[in-house]
Amino acid sequence: MNEAVTSDLENWLKGKAQVFFKNIGVRKGMHALDFGCGVGHYTVPLAKTVEGGKVYAMDEDEKALAQLMQTAESEGLTNIVPLKASGDLRLRLGDESIDVVLLYDILHFMNREDRRKIYDEVYSVLKSDGILSVYPKHNKSDHPLWNLKDMDVSAIIEEIEGAGFSLQTKARRQLMHNDNYDEGFVLTFGKNG
Ligand SMILES: C[S@@+](CC[C@H](N)C(=O)[O-])C[C@H]1O[C@@H](n2cnc3c(N)ncnc32)[C@H](O)[C@@H]1O
Repeated sequence: MNEAVTSDLENWLKGKAQVFFKNIGVRKGMHALDFGCGVGHYTVPLAKTVEGGKVYAMDEDEKALAQLMQTAESEGLTNIVPLKASGDLRLRLGDESIDVVLLYDILHFMNREDRRKIYDEVYSVLKSDGILSVYPKHNKSDHPLWNLKDMDVSAIIEEIEGAGFSLQTKARRQLMHNDNYDEGFVLTFGKNG
């Protein structure tokens, strides 16, 4: 890792990420789910932002979860619950128990059918006034890759709205991608009805 990369990530984790989360509506005491959390570049600042609340950190990669929990320990964070993803895209959290769900840089891993499964699961676990926040990296206009390579952001919005959500905000934001700052669309959705 070169110095510039280290400083991007440090700068993000030191405070910028918490401003980012407050801007999308995350508050103290909330219960959150970071699905496809990786090593936790979002999970760790999210856990600080929800102080007094809880973050469920779910991933299929056990090594990434172990690294995340080492970071959590070194930061003195006790409100992150690591969950190994089951592989069937079931979340196994209580219905309407979660205030905010992150789907960040993960949708390109899933085909249309699997994306629909995860939207339906997210719909079930989110409270009626909960927030679904999506960073659809690797869409057609942002380093296209795998399952999102032919979808532009408007098609992704349409797909998520088709699963019972309404778009609340669409904003270009500076955020972390891997270990570097990047700029991309961040979408927030609420549940219909
Ligand atoms: C590109 S990383 C993004 C990590 C993190 N969300 C971020 O933005 O920094 C994608 C993560 O999703 C995980 N992942 C991919 N498919 C998954 C699935 N079906 N269930 C759970 N985790 C998955 C991968 O193991 C990886 O850690």
